[in-house]
Amino acid sequence: MSRMNEYRVLIETAMNEFLKESDQPYNVLIQAMRYSAMNAGKRIRPILTLEFCRIHGGMVQDALPFAAALEMIHCYSLIHDDLPCMDDDDLRRGKPSCHKQFDEATALLAGDALLTKAFQVASESSLADKDPKAAIACIQALSKFAGVDGMIGGQVLDLSMEGKSLEVTPEALSQMHELKTGALIEAACTMGTLAAGKTGEAVALAAEYGRNLGLAFQLVDDILDVTGSEALLGKPIGSDEEQEKTTFITLFGLDKTKELAEEYTKRALEIADSYADCDFLHQLTEQLLSRDH
Ligand code: IPE
Ligand code: IPE
Ligand code: MG
Ligand code: MG
Ligand code: MG
Repeated sequence: MSRMNEYRVLIETAMNEFLKESDQPYNVLIQAMRYSAMNAGKRIRPILTLEFCRIHGGMVQDALPFAAALEMIHCYSLIHDDLPCMDDDDLRRGKPSCHKQFDEATALLAGDALLTKAFQVASESSLADKDPKAAIACIQALSKFAGVDGMIGGQVLDLSMEGKSLEVTPEALSQMHELKTGALIEAACTMGTLAAGKTGEAVALAAEYGRNLGLAFQLVDDILDVTGSEALLGKPIGSDEEQEKTTFITLFGLDKTKELAEEYTKRALEIADSYADCDFLHQLTEQLLSRDH
């Protein structure tokens, strides 16, 4: 099995275990959580967590609960992102969005419950006994990057920039990207490195890789919203235009946006290549630039 598939199996087995159905009268909530989490996601963030742990000499099993927790947070962010009050998208990962399959209230609560479950999983990890300092550092990273100074702050900026392509500066747009998408990818690389017992410089470098990859990742997402195929992406195309999102494409056009994505990928590759045994990370970084979904 390729390392990519090995990681996917580990992540999905762990998530399946953490999101067990129950005979409680609120089981519909767990069904909605599973609907949005146990599906065709690419699992890029948790894969990065496991790989950064391995690259830094750690045991992948130590990073696994944090990887699964991060993917749960990502899945919650997608549920909320698709709600009518946000991007109002009806298709996600090739299926009706959570609020379409269930209803808005259930989708809202399934998102809340995935977020909360993530912190339960992270705080109950075996690393908390083995290396409590590292476990706490992981939880701190997770909460910071997912929260107001991370993904949620970025989502607020994203919404505030709707219909403002003529006013928004490139710097403000970069900050929005860095937060709404970069932050969870930064969290992925940071937590993997921390779970391997590393601190200081090693963590800072992993975070820098994550920031650059995250910026490239959102630029490619914006490009695919224009040039991609709904069948391959599993989500609507043209959503950004419909919501009058401000993106690098609305500011500078497709070609310049592609160039920028290449630049950020190049910086991420420089960092990836500085690690011993970096082939997998190098390939993954490159693949994410030329992806079609
Ligand atoms: C989509 O993320 C949302 C963004 C931050 C761009 P992904 O492209 O990783 O989506 P999944 O997890 O594979 O569905
Ligand atoms: C997503 O950005 C950022 C999140 C934090 C979910 P988008 O709104 O562009 O993501 P997609 O295109 O809906 O997946
Ligand atoms: Mg959005
Ligand atoms: Mg969206
Ligand atoms: Mg998008």
